[in-house]
Amino acid sequence: MTRGNRAEWDCTMLFYAILFSDCIHSLNPVVWSNVDKLRLFRNEEFAHIARGHLSDVEFQNAISKVENAFLALGLSTVKIQDVKTQTCFPTEQLIHVLKKVDDLKQKGQEKEKEVQEKDKNLQEKEGAIQEKNKRVHETAKELREKEEERKTLEEQLNSNVSSFCILPPKPSHDVTNRDADVCEIIQKLKELKKSAGLSYLFISGNPGSGKSQMASLVAKRCFDAVKESTSTASFVMTLNAENSKTLLESYATFARHLKCPEYAVTNTFTSTDLSTDEKIRSLKTLISTKIELYSSWLIIVDNVTSMSHVDGNLPDSGNGQWAKGQLLITTQDTASIPPSGLFIQHIPVSKGMEPHEAGCLLEMLSGFNDPKMEKEVARVLDYQPLALASAATYVREVRNNKLTPNFS
Ligand SMILES: Nc1ncnc2c1ncn2[C@@H]1O[C@H](COP(=O)(O)OP(=O)(O)O)[C@@H](O)[C@H]1O
Ligand SMILES: [Mg+2]
Repeated sequence: MTRGNRAEWDCTMLFYAILFSDCIHSLNPVVWSNVDKLRLFRNEEFAHIARGHLSDVEFQNAISKVENAFLALGLSTVKIQDVKTQTCFPTEQLIHVLKKVDDLKQKGQEKEKEVQEKDKNLQEKEGAIQEKNKRVHETAKELREKEEERKTLEEQLNSNVSSFCILPPKPSHDVTNRDADVCEIIQKLKELKKSAGLSYLFISGNPGSGKSQMASLVAKRCFDAVKESTSTASFVMTLNAENSKTLLESYATFARHLKCPEYAVTNTFTSTDLSTDEKIRSLKTLISTKIELYSSWLIIVDNVTSMSHVDGNLPDSGNGQWAKGQLLITTQDTASIPPSGLFIQHIPVSKGMEPHEAGCLLEMLSGFNDPKMEKEVARVLDYQPLALASAATYVREVRNNKLTPNFS
């Protein structure tokens, strides 16, 4: 007020000036009191109240105070009539704030929706995980069942032993039964069997003396005898010991007959890292585990040319797993046969066939009967089966020719 610039005055200053200025003389007491009422009203009931609202009664009270003052001051009350019915008095700032509140509410709702969406996703994922877990469980169960099935099959396979009889190859013609010699050998085998452990019977003789066929006849008769007398499984196996390759092949066939695991047999047989001797050793080990399941067996080791070649590759007597069987070895290598004893016997067959049986063989294969001639031919041919069979077959072939039907 002392600075003298009225443009800087607020309403308090204005009222103060009006009410207390000495300059304004003869101020009507009605004007004075009513303006003062308006001033008080403005300060106490309007501008400085803490709350943002009035009750209807309070509002009507306040309005009538202002109206009375205006009436007393002779001012127009038209605007007051408008205000009387108004229930709120929004300012620009309030509108702005309300809009902000609205925006915030909307954002809140959106966030809530997002959270719900995420919750839903999470639940779905949880569901999927549970589903997967269930499937993993089921698969594990299936695997266990399959494994048990496999074990059962394997056990069945392991304990499944069946008899078999593999003999040396037969000639293309009929064979005589060589009864006397076969009986003698079977007798020897029986004696050998009395001693516990693996036993060896050697059949020796020059090529063509009938060793292999003799072994075949003996083995067949032994096999049939066991089959008739007991129900337990037994076998006859022939190993071709001509060379290490034929021997390896025979061992592989042997392992397969004994139902050794096929993958083990094939892997060993086709291995490029192992030598033939190593392969034979490995197959022998495979065979040892199965051979115990048989209570009686006979192996023909056929066509041995040199004992030293096959030495390490035959079943060994020191191994208890091979104790229940016998080996029938046919060999030309008479010099290397160990001396006879409890486990070893030796029968030479170089003398050939019985004279009578030799005659019968000539007659059977040639289809021609001349006893005197047969005797003579058999003697000249040293009673050797190969020679006899060849001679008789030759005669038959010539007699079959229409031009020489009487050849003798
Ligand atoms: N019992 C037999 N009956 C008829 N022929 C036989 C008999 N034994 C041997 N042979 C004849 O002799 C051939 C040679 O016999 P094999 O047993 O193989 O002799 P090794 O083994 O001593 O060399 C046979 O292919 C067959 O022709
Ligand atoms: Mg032979």
